[in-house]
Amino acid sequence: MQLQQNISLKPFNTFGIDESAEYFVELEHAAMLEEIANDAALPKQVHALGGGSNILLSKAVSGLVVHNKLKGIVIEKEDSEHVWLRVEAGEIWHELVMYAISNGWAGIENLALIPGTVGAAPIQNIGAYGVEAKETIESVTGWHWEERAFIDYTNADCNFGYRDSIFKGRLKDKIFISSVIFKLNKKPTFHTAYGPIQHELERMNIAELSIKAIADAVIAIRSSKLPDPKKIGNAGSFFKNPAISTEHFEMLQTNYPGIPCYPFSETMVKVPAGWLIEQCGWKGYRKGDTGVHEKQALVIVNYGKASGEEIWALSGEIVESVKERFGISLEREVQVW
Ligand code: EPU
Repeated sequence: MQLQQNISLKPFNTFGIDESAEYFVELEHAAMLEEIANDAALPKQVHALGGGSNILLSKAVSGLVVHNKLKGIVIEKEDSEHVWLRVEAGEIWHELVMYAISNGWAGIENLALIPGTVGAAPIQNIGAYGVEAKETIESVTGWHWEERAFIDYTNADCNFGYRDSIFKGRLKDKIFISSVIFKLNKKPTFHTAYGPIQHELERMNIAELSIKAIADAVIAIRSSKLPDPKKIGNAGSFFKNPAISTEHFEMLQTNYPGIPCYPFSETMVKVPAGWLIEQCGWKGYRKGDTGVHEKQALVIVNYGKASGEEIWALSGEIVESVKERFGISLEREVQVW
């Protein structure tokens, strides 16, 4: 095991923030997790790092950062309708999507181009364009630091919600996700109801609908709106879309007739945080090296040398202004370290 000390995490987070890790190790094999747990010299505080695409480093990270490099995809089983894939958690999410599409396996094509690793998919229950990861996750396997064992969690055990799961709640920091089983469909059900997809497919002049065509449409939409972290530091949506009561929504509608919403439950609707933030005048805002993306107000960006603290401060100003104007408390989607 190659243990490194006081290394910069800048290359390991898509925000491109330059904070250091006290200890750092690349996890090449799942068995190393047990070695780490048994090594009395290592700190007990362990942080699991995947693609680093949903974290904000607000300070130097104390303890041990374990960078997930576990790779491999195997077919666990299949029948005439489905295939069950066990995917190691360090695989790149978008590569899995492309691999599934090339084999004609449906279910995750709407989630093309989401940055990050497979291990992060269940933590966040990643979602886009009308589909969430929970719809295809059969089970999750993770190393439990206290139990000192690998434990399997069924889909029901994971308590999936909107950008939420048990791994962000009760099991936060207790589990290192090592692999995920996905149940994909050999006979696709197409999800094109989400507004921009249909529009994009028409624009692309697709002769016959396919999972490949859907992924291409999603890739085109995402590339046009979301900044490429290789060019501008960011962590995708910085905030969750807030759910508010229908009464609150109707009240807002009287002053803002154009306010968009998504159905959420019988008594609540979800309002796009990007819209709320844009209304407060933040879209395209820049202060020093921090800013709000000019094409999607839900994304906070680092133009170069912004610190985690500066980004946090900007997000706080945004939260306050949305609260003042709409009476809505925005919740951060990114994980703050
Ligand atoms: N909008 C604005 N101004 C903006 C941004 C959005 O008015 O600056 C409005 C749009 O016009 C539209 C609505 O808000 O009416 C929704 O916008 P969009 O379709 O871009 O999606 P979103 O609600 O902002 C969510 C997810 C994204 C996901 C897209 C597509 C969350 C927090 N974000 O964004 O996920 O890709 O839907 O399904 O749920 C991520 O989680 O990192 C992420 C990018």
